[in-house]
Amino acid sequence: MAKNKIQSIGILTSGGDCQGLNAAIRGVAKTAMKAYGLDVVGIRDGFRGLVENRSARLVDGDLSGILTLGGTILGTSRDKPNKMPFGGRTVDMTSQAVENYHALHLDALVCIGGGGTQKNALHLMQSSDMNIITLPKTIDNDVSGTEVCFGFDTAVQIAVDAIDRIHSTALSHQRVMLVEVMGHNTGWLATAAGLAGGADVVLMPEIPYSLESVVDAIVERKRRGKRFSIVVVAEGSFSRKEARRREKVKQQKKEGKAEKKESGKQEKEAVRPVEAATQRLARDIQGKTGLETRLTTLGHVMRGGTPTSADRNLATLLGSEAARLLAEGKTGVMVGRQGERAVAVKLAEVAGRKRVVPLDHPWIETLRRLDICLGD
Ligand code: F6P
Repeated sequence: MAKNKIQSIGILTSGGDCQGLNAAIRGVAKTAMKAYGLDVVGIRDGFRGLVENRSARLVDGDLSGILTLGGTILGTSRDKPNKMPFGGRTVDMTSQAVENYHALHLDALVCIGGGGTQKNALHLMQSSDMNIITLPKTIDNDVSGTEVCFGFDTAVQIAVDAIDRIHSTALSHQRVMLVEVMGHNTGWLATAAGLAGGADVVLMPEIPYSLESVVDAIVERKRRGKRFSIVVVAEGSFSRKEARRREKVKQQKKEGKAEKKESGKQEKEAVRPVEAATQRLARDIQGKTGLETRLTTLGHVMRGGTPTSADRNLATLLGSEAARLLAEGKTGVMVGRQGERAVAVKLAEVAGRKRVVPLDHPWIETLRRLDICLGD
């Protein structure tokens, strides 16, 4: 709870962009200005802009026409206040961020972002007197404390449009078509897009796959006279063999036995281009089924363009509620959605907790009932 009355707020967007960010900025700022008479300052390029003191007061005109725009009018970055790259070094700029917050005479800061942003916001809050409130955005949909993040609905729709198009060319050429979707280490996008797009195989990190099971499902479809197969793969998917290897390394690390070479190898894999693993999978599927196989990586296409009405409404609802809470003096929370409502959850309970797809999620159960192969 903020100690003093809040009169001036800052807004920043941080982490990978997504659809609905501008709708959220508009929701916060319009409510703050019109309903509560607060001053609103836009901070440029996420936490880096706060550290470098790059900002501008937002006026009504800045908010006109942005509801439908993709990206973020404020710009974004993945920079963390406590680990900021500067001149080839990584520097803790937390105190600079706090100093600039005060120099701007802000009474509170709204941080709009995904899992990383929630952690950065909590860090700032715990290491200073800053009043912070956050909103959950990410196409990955993996922030806990909310049923859904804005950006997700639009990204699913983009993936489904792509899968629909891939169906017709798959049919013409009698091919196996892999469609890699984003999602970081979760399968929300793959599950939703696979279900809506009528995929034949859906792979996600929550269910390490067996290559044999994927190959069997594709061969069986061919045997039944199906001319093609669509495989939706979450970028973070991995095989059972890889799962065992990761488990072994984790165990060795725990016991302090991990060889330098092995843990180094694991780190390298975490930063390798994400499509490499899916490319290997495509090659393996082609090799084992004898069927021509192609891979389409949707990548950043999924994060671009205009938000769906669902994302516009969600972002506006959460943004507007954040401004209302601030006007009441409430901070230290993330505003998420439960049912139709915007709810405030303690930031400390959300930050650092990834929301994965539960294995008993209705989408997963439905995919199974439809006999869609999940690789297990
Ligand atoms: O966190 C959102 C996300 O789009 C992930 O799905 C993806 O792994 C990552 O960002 C890509 O990040 P970047 O834009 O930095 O390449």
